[in-house]
Amino acid sequence: MDQLKRQAAARALEEVRDGMQLGLGTGSTAKHFVELLGERVRAGLKVIGVPTSEATRADAERCGVPLTTLDEIDHLDITVDGADEIDPALNLIKGGGGALLREKIVAAASDRMIVIADDTKWVPTLGRFPLPVEVVPFGLGATRRAIEKAFAECGVSGQMAVRKARDGHVFVTDGGHWIVDAQLGRIEDPPSLAKALSAIPGVVEHGLFIGLASSAVLAGGEGIRVIERRKPKGD
Ligand code: A5P
Repeated sequence: MDQLKRQAAARALEEVRDGMQLGLGTGSTAKHFVELLGERVRAGLKVIGVPTSEATRADAERCGVPLTTLDEIDHLDITVDGADEIDPALNLIKGGGGALLREKIVAAASDRMIVIADDTKWVPTLGRFPLPVEVVPFGLGATRRAIEKAFAECGVSGQMAVRKARDGHVFVTDGGHWIVDAQLGRIEDPPSLAKALSAIPGVVEHGLFIGLASSAVLAGGEGIRVIERRKPKGD
């Protein structure tokens, strides 16, 4: 599986040109991309990156990839990131690693987002992977009730749980928020659910990435498949 992730990362690297400004994703697949990019940088490639998490910042620094912020540059050429699920419309569930907020800000600031994954992430319908919803700890009870109402209005339901870290304490994101994971099973209409969740005051962000991915690079036993999104970015 790790080999497939690295192959997908290597294929995405072929899209990178000298002088590009890159969004650097988070997770085990994106980590391969950062490592391979680091090799190219050490061989003379000139790029600059914006990391989507403190973990990726540390990886990029270790690999010698120069970094900047979205305050210092006005756009990104390509963001390369992993995903937890990818559907045929290239809607995504992200946030299994807890970095969804920065990942979405960076993807939205990019001309293109290339999703890299092993092909087990490809699903006909999103929802098997628990949907991460990043929330403010204040007023969590009210926010949970509002999330449940949004789920009901969008025809989905399922158990919700505040994410815990490995040490048993509540998982805290890089932005200081918490994550509620919702086991929904099937999300028939991801754009409507995304809109409903975004309208809830205590929700900082959610893991549905709609209209952001330009292409997906899927590595499987039979090779690599590149799937291009048909609609322009943002639709
Ligand atoms: C991080 O918050 C996530 O969005 C990751 O991009 C996603 O969980 C994929 O991670 P892996 O590449 O480790 O499967």
